Amino acid sequence: MLFQRPSHRTRVSFEVAIARLGGSRTTLGEQDVQLGYRESVGDAARVLDRYVDGIVARLRSHTDLVELASAAEKPVINALTERSHPCQILADLMTLEEVRGPLARQHVAYVGDGNNIATSLMEASTRLGFPLTVITPSGYEPDEAVITRARGLALDGDRLSITNELAKVEGATAIYTDVWTSMGHETERESRRRVFAEYQVNEALMSAVPDAVFMHCLPAHRGEEVTDAVIDGKQSVVFQQAGNRLYAQMALMAELFGSGT
Ligand code: CP
Ligand code: NVA
Repeated sequence: MLFQRPSHRTRVSFEVAIARLGGSRTTLGEQDVQLGYRESVGDAARVLDRYVDGIVARLRSHTDLVELASAAEKPVINALTERSHPCQILADLMTLEEVRGPLARQHVAYVGDGNNIATSLMEASTRLGFPLTVITPSGYEPDEAVITRARGLALDGDRLSITNELAKVEGATAIYTDVWTSMGHETERESRRRVFAEYQVNEALMSAVPDAVFMHCLPAHRGEEVTDAVIDGKQSVVFQQAGNRLYAQMALMAELFGSGT
């Protein structure tokens, strides 16, 4: 496992999942491999390939992740980049099915920054066919290239909608938010606080969708994107999401590395 950024849930859930599946792992931090600095991404991939059955990587740059995956013959699992966080969304969709039933009957409203979580939700929505409304402040929408790629994954049309209007949470069965300032954007935190203030998920917003669950990938910045009353309230399923990281990743690795029997 390679981690260029901090991690709690992803690192611990992968470590425990690997152990429970009977595997072993080594976890390397930023200073160990020094990917792209001490050696090229491609060289590191070709060396790791000779030692391990797969690579779990949380990298700063999505381009580096793609390069790592291209150079390695073994599977590379994206443990978050600035562009996407697919393992998180696997656990989230598992949670949503557990608490609300089949995905086809859900309508997820994502409120906040058009970031890596939004991207992976969009890709899941178009590929799996559940409706998703992404609601962001103006100027913080997902990139056009990300939207185009997500729409291109649709097997049967897509029900993806991107808007700046908070009122579009109406009818949602799940409200999902994430931090306003993701890792790597820390210098923008003050300006983002001002821009995102009206997009806070608070009791007033949740009361517009009384049957919806509240979701967050964590870590949360309480008092910014979500209030204590909502994250600790009865609609919240955030700790179930965090717990399901373990099971979703066990399933992912059983699929990738299992014998197929
Ligand atoms: N949700 C998530 O990926 O958490 P960490 O950054 O702590 O791994
Ligand atoms: N968008 C957040 C997700 C953390 C799990 C970040 O990239 O910092």
